Amino acid sequence: MQATVRARSNIALVKYWGKADAALNIPAVGSISITLDKLWTDTSVRFDAALAGDRLVLGGEERGDQLERVSRCLDLVRERAGVDLKAEVISSNNFPTGAGLASSASGFAALVGAAAAALGRDWPSRELSILARRGSGSAARSIFGGFVDMHRGSAADGSDSYAEPLADAASWPLTVIVAITARGEKAVGSGEGMTRSAGFSPYYRAWIDSHPADMAAARQAIRARDFAALAAVAEASCLKMHAAAMSATPPLIYWNGATLDCLQRIGELKAKGLAVFFTIDAGPQVKAVCLPEAAGEVGRELRKLPGVKDVIVTGLGPGLERL
Ligand code: DP6
Repeated sequence: MQATVRARSNIALVKYWGKADAALNIPAVGSISITLDKLWTDTSVRFDAALAGDRLVLGGEERGDQLERVSRCLDLVRERAGVDLKAEVISSNNFPTGAGLASSASGFAALVGAAAAALGRDWPSRELSILARRGSGSAARSIFGGFVDMHRGSAADGSDSYAEPLADAASWPLTVIVAITARGEKAVGSGEGMTRSAGFSPYYRAWIDSHPADMAAARQAIRARDFAALAAVAEASCLKMHAAAMSATPPLIYWNGATLDCLQRIGELKAKGLAVFFTIDAGPQVKAVCLPEAAGEVGRELRKLPGVKDVIVTGLGPGLERL
C-alpha cells in the first residue's frame, strides 16, 4: 500500500490562464508545455488503516496548511479506487524551495501517480492527467514528458480536459535557463490571479478569443521543429497572459525590475542571432528557452545581470517515473 513516484516540473509555452469551471478545475483555454528534466518532486504515499487522518510532510516539515488541498485530491483517487483508507504523504522538491518556482505542477502529478500506484491501480495516463488537473491545472501536463498538449475540452464534467504527449524530450532537445530574480512565495497565487483577470481585465475576452490560434501555431511549430515560429507564439502568449493580469483590478504585476532586464537582454541576444526566447509564469522568474548551442552564452549573459540571484539550467525530461 506504499509507492514513490517522481514527477517533473513543466513550463507552458502557450499559457493556461482562466478557468471554465472552478469547482472541477476545468481550464478556460488549453495549453502547451515542456517538461523540465532537472526540477522534480518525489512523493511517497502510504495508505494505512491505522491512520485516523491524512498526513503531509513536505521537505521534512509537517504542512497542515497544505493538507486540505492534498486531501481533496486524495479523495478523488480514493473514490475512484473504491477505498476508504487515510494516507501519509511524504514529498520533497529537488529545486530550491522558496525560489518562487511552481511546485504545484510536479507536486500534484507526483501525488496522484504515487497514490494510484500505492493502491495497485494501473490507470491509463489520461485518467491520471484528469485527476492531477483537479489538484492543479498545470499538474495535468506533468504526467507526460517532452512536449505536452493540454486540451481544454468541452464536456461539463471535465472528462475531456486532459493532457497528451505531443513529442518526446529527445525528439527536439531544448535547453531551459531559469533566471531566479527573487526568492520567496509569490504575493498572489495563480488561481486568484486568474479570477481577477477574468473578472476585471478588459483584455480577458481577447485573451480567450485569440488563444486557439496560438495553440495551432505552437503545435505546428513543434511538429516542424521551427524554433523561430515557436519563439514568436510563446512570447506572444506569455505577454498576452501578463497583459490580462496587469489590467485586472487591483492590478497584478508579477514582474520586478530584474525580470524586465532579463527580457531586454534576451531580446538583444535574439537580435544577435541566438536561438532563444523567454517565458514568464505568475511570478518574477524568467525562463529562457534555447537551442542547446545557444545555452552557454544565454546562461553567461543572464548570470551577469545584477538582479539575477541564481540560474538553473535544464533540458527536457520524461513523464512520471515510479521509483
Ligand atoms: C501562469 O496550474 O498553478 O503557470 O489550476 O489554479 O492550480 P491552478 O493553477 P496553476 O496555473 C498555472 C498558470 C501559469 C501558466 C501555465 O502553467 O500554463
